[in-house]
Amino acid sequence: MQIPYGKQDITEGDLSAVLDVLKSANLTQGPQIPKFENCIKQATNSNYAVAMNSATSALHAACLALGVGKGDVVWTTPLTFVASANCVLYCGATIDFVDIDKDSYNLSPSLLEAKLRDARSKGLSLPKVVIPVHLSGQPCEMEKIHALAKEYEFKIIEDASHAIGGRYKNQPIGNCEYSDITVFSFHPVKIVTTGEGGVATTNDKLLAQRMGLFRSHGITRDPSLMTEPTHGDWYYQQIELGFNYRMTDIQAALGVSQMDRLHDFVAKRHALANRYDDLLEDLPLVLPKQSPDSYSGRHLYVIKLRSEDLQVSHAQVFDYLRQRSIGVNVHYIPVHTQPYYQALGFRCGMYPNAEAHYERAMSIPLFYGLTLEQQDTVVETLRAVLK
Ligand SMILES: Cc1ncc(COP(=O)(O)O)c(C=O)c1O
Repeated sequence: MQIPYGKQDITEGDLSAVLDVLKSANLTQGPQIPKFENCIKQATNSNYAVAMNSATSALHAACLALGVGKGDVVWTTPLTFVASANCVLYCGATIDFVDIDKDSYNLSPSLLEAKLRDARSKGLSLPKVVIPVHLSGQPCEMEKIHALAKEYEFKIIEDASHAIGGRYKNQPIGNCEYSDITVFSFHPVKIVTTGEGGVATTNDKLLAQRMGLFRSHGITRDPSLMTEPTHGDWYYQQIELGFNYRMTDIQAALGVSQMDRLHDFVAKRHALANRYDDLLEDLPLVLPKQSPDSYSGRHLYVIKLRSEDLQVSHAQVFDYLRQRSIGVNVHYIPVHTQPYYQALGFRCGMYPNAEAHYERAMSIPLFYGLTLEQQDTVVETLRAVLK
């Protein structure tokens, strides 16, 4: 049987929560959305949460809410899913990248500082927004990035697609202490799922209001935002060019039900990851390091091959595991190496840490329902191919 690298956990409780919505009057724009948003606010200690149909939509709405547009520059890490960078291009702005730290695999604060200093000294554009990504759920060094944001006057969107339930300096990811907006994904391979879905959290009322507008066509029913007195109860105004980025109540109900198990989900991932740490210790691998001041969401367990000690290549190890029904994956193909980004002028070799990571990294199965037996199979198969 196939052991996937990630998989949702669905209980009878989840099923009945979804069924209840299907039997109700509102499949969308009903009471489950604010309920789910409240769950996220509580879990993250944030003041506002705006649910959308994906993290991609939430990243786009977050950029728009911060005023990103033509002529602006936004920086992110090259070692991420393309959505962290695409959201900037959707706004007509320019994307650029800051290479990763070799140990945490996250955007490097020291390389960020060097790039900012260099840009300022040469009179080049400074970023309007920086998007650090908490890769695998491991929080970025937000305190340092935030200090740079103050000095260089940029805004911060945390891409926490992998990090719900994680903590940084003992505070929940998503509380926006060191950022303007935090975005989570609820795709089925993530820690908590709504099928497809995303949420943006913020402590800024205006940003929440603007993201709410972009989520729903730029339309408001709030008289205080209208240009003239309401014509009646039916009346609404379109005051921005928005989208249909709404989450359905079916999805939100699943999210509400799943959020009850958030701590359990993350704790189990930690237990499995710790077990991998013990079982893989003697193999020619670099295992994921955990930073002492944070608690990862543990979305992914990424091993890196010590290629210099191995007779087999990255691709051979990958194929060996896949042929034996172990659903390994690679996170990520550096964004700047994608043909679309190459056509924008990016070149291989520009972000060597991310590129070196890509050549050796592999995500092995890690999800709530992974059994110890399945985990042993993954370890034994890896041992067999690496020996
Ligand atoms: C780091 C990161 N950002 C953004 C996204 C986009 O999330 P979604 O699939 O919810 O749009 C993903 C999804 O894989 C991701 O891994």
